[in-house]
Amino acid sequence: MSVVSLRQQHAQTAAEVSALVHQAVAAKAHIEVKSVGKTYHAKTGPVTALEAIDLTIHRGEIFGIIGRSGAGKSSLIRTFNRLEDVSEGQILIDGDDIGRLRGAGLVGLRRRIGMIFQHFNLLSSQTVLENLALPLKAAGHKRADIEHRARELLALVGLEGKEHVYPSRLSGGQKQRVGIARALMLEPEILLCDEATSALDPETTQSILSLLKEINTRLGLTIVLITHEMAVIRQICDHVVVLEQGLVVEQGPVWQIFGKPQADATRSLLAPLATQLPVDLQQRLKQTSAGGQAVIELVYDGDSAREPDLGAIAAALGAHVELLHGSIDRIQGHAQGRLLVATAAPENRITQFLKNSRLFSSAKVVGHV
Ligand SMILES: Nc1ncnc2c1ncn2[C@@H]1O[C@H](COP(=O)(O)OP(=O)(O)OP(=O)(O)O)[C@@H](O)[C@H]1O
Ligand SMILES: [Mg+2]
Repeated sequence: MSVVSLRQQHAQTAAEVSALVHQAVAAKAHIEVKSVGKTYHAKTGPVTALEAIDLTIHRGEIFGIIGRSGAGKSSLIRTFNRLEDVSEGQILIDGDDIGRLRGAGLVGLRRRIGMIFQHFNLLSSQTVLENLALPLKAAGHKRADIEHRARELLALVGLEGKEHVYPSRLSGGQKQRVGIARALMLEPEILLCDEATSALDPETTQSILSLLKEINTRLGLTIVLITHEMAVIRQICDHVVVLEQGLVVEQGPVWQIFGKPQADATRSLLAPLATQLPVDLQQRLKQTSAGGQAVIELVYDGDSAREPDLGAIAAALGAHVELLHGSIDRIQGHAQGRLLVATAAPENRITQFLKNSRLFSSAKVVGHV
């Protein structure tokens, strides 16, 4: 049964959808990266971009790659369609070692893998239709078939009627839609996206992400996505890998990596998402308890046994609880975030409460107000 029909038939909640997607894709590895190393031989000497990378990307999932600039993200993704060859190890697609492909085999591989880029890479002297036609023309398709497919895809990406427009007349978001349509012309099974939304404003980013998600669900494409925007990963990826200086520092389901980042690199990438203490609270916060209420920070890392339950918190403290600040997000059906609550509960009761790990992932008193 396909992921899509599974979703439609049974899915009730986001958590169920997420579980079903993972069940459905768990069995089928699409891209396997086995002990991959990549060294560039620059004029200044060898540069090691990737070392001993092991990864499995499953069919039909959206897989995110994050890491600081120079971490090796582009180098890695470019080995999937042999824009770069690995220096060590193997890339398997559907179990086949793509390193062995030559001539027609390599052309076939590149047809199975579409790619979109940060700066769209459209030919400015060609219309939208001509840009879309290029990959099919090169593959020897008939003009009528090419036009038919191009019109179908322009409808899919929401650009009907733009066939004869030149790229310079399009907005960034529209250009990326053309880029996506062009990448889909050869009916690929994998779509590689290298910072595909980085040149777009937040609203346009949202619309492109929705489009990618739709393509993933409707066409069943496996999508591999590099981004420096953590919000993009949080929104549409199933799994994520964090690269640091050419090494995998952690990987797993997005909710797990975002909820409990283990590596320093991950924590610093996620830092912009973490909510700081609001300024007014910071100014009011005292470290002595004299006469005030304790401010408790409660962290939820997405473990579904510990959903934010204010009633249970108040009951455990045996006192009134005031919610001062907080944000809870839901990633793949898991509640994650942080709440700041104030309570006048006595100190011994708070000490007892802080040991009650059933109610939160971690908690501490950050001061008094
Ligand atoms: N063609 C090349 N020749 C030599 N060194 C290269 C080449 N391409 C990349 N590198 C080096 O390999 C390392 C990884 O580069 P890569 O472009 O994969 O990083 P990245 O994670 O995509 O970074 P960014 O976020 O800036 O795009 C860097 O040290 C880079 O300078
Ligand atoms: Mg890059």
